[in-house]
Amino acid sequence: MKVAANRLDRGFNQYRDEFEAAALEVLRSGYYILGPHVEKFEQEFAAYTGAKYAVALASGLDALWLAFKVLGIGEGDEVIVPANTYIASVMGITINGATPVFVEPDEYYNINPNKVEEKITEKTKAVLVVHLYGQSCDMNRISAICKNHSLFLVEDCAQSHGAMAGDRMTGTFGDIGCFSFYPSKNLGAFGDGGCIVTNSDIIAGDMKMYRNYGSSKRYYFDVVGANSRLDEIQAALLSVRLKHLDELNAERQKLAEKYLEGIDNDKFILPAIRSGVTTVWHQFVIRAKKRDELIEYLKEREIGSIIHYPIPPHLSKAYSNLGYKKGDFPITEEYADTVLSLPFYNGMTEEEQDYVINALNRF
Ligand SMILES: Cc1ncc(COP(=O)(O)O)c(C=O)c1O
Repeated sequence: MKVAANRLDRGFNQYRDEFEAAALEVLRSGYYILGPHVEKFEQEFAAYTGAKYAVALASGLDALWLAFKVLGIGEGDEVIVPANTYIASVMGITINGATPVFVEPDEYYNINPNKVEEKITEKTKAVLVVHLYGQSCDMNRISAICKNHSLFLVEDCAQSHGAMAGDRMTGTFGDIGCFSFYPSKNLGAFGDGGCIVTNSDIIAGDMKMYRNYGSSKRYYFDVVGANSRLDEIQAALLSVRLKHLDELNAERQKLAEKYLEGIDNDKFILPAIRSGVTTVWHQFVIRAKKRDELIEYLKEREIGSIIHYPIPPHLSKAYSNLGYKKGDFPITEEYADTVLSLPFYNGMTEEEQDYVINALNRF
């Protein structure tokens, strides 16, 4: 049996008729960018998250860098960010000329709230949390720290659509929640897409201006903005998927439970779940000391796997200018050396999961 790390075609086939009808309707409408489907999706997504506004954008990276842009964060400012994250979180900060200040993760792979305060200086303007792999950070603690120190709080929710901390959805704790709709995300488009959510009229208005060349009125330009407009087809397709997001996340929860119950091998560390939060299982990530051997072993059995992520941002070539070296963030580096995402996707069959579990248990 062949089990790929991800199967986006399965996600399409789950609601194939609805997706095809939605795309066809847009094609026939003659309206392709920032039209009624984008507005409709923005209203639906705001309502889903519980935020006052959602502003659709072209990608998750745009959501991040435009978030810091509208908050006025740039040259000379510092932003606290988890060391253990995807590079886009850091790029969202540095594109604006601000400096990322890294913090080690806790055992849930998220920013360790105990280590945030010691990194605050007079230059610190914001904390960016990342709800990695679908699990919320400790938002009570982080929100309190930001409040006490008058810092902006931005949330990278690229992997946490629908995840809660207590009775609130990730993305609504901070000033701005940033989402990606990259196809493999829990709420995935069929191309690139992203959005921000916020309760602030000013931030929502500014974001709408920035996403469209800095124009609030057609052909009148107030600031140097970006072209970051979600297209109508993606918005219509996202509306379809959003309608099913809770059932898709419930399916992922079942898949995760099956892995948690079935995998029985002390060579692996299974994911830990923080109390009081939900995870929407964007990935199912284990840790293995003999990871390279494991990848090869799985490959021989036609089982795919992915490392999220092999090189932490502070050791990436892109950030060699920051002057970090191996050993600066040992927990992050240990995770980067040992994490492995197992095959995990909506539409995964029981047979496929059993095949993976059996292989893992025999490793
Ligand atoms: C944690 C995180 N932040 C940001 C992004 C960037 O999103 P996008 O690829 O839509 O730019 C991603 C995904 O790619 C991500 O996983």
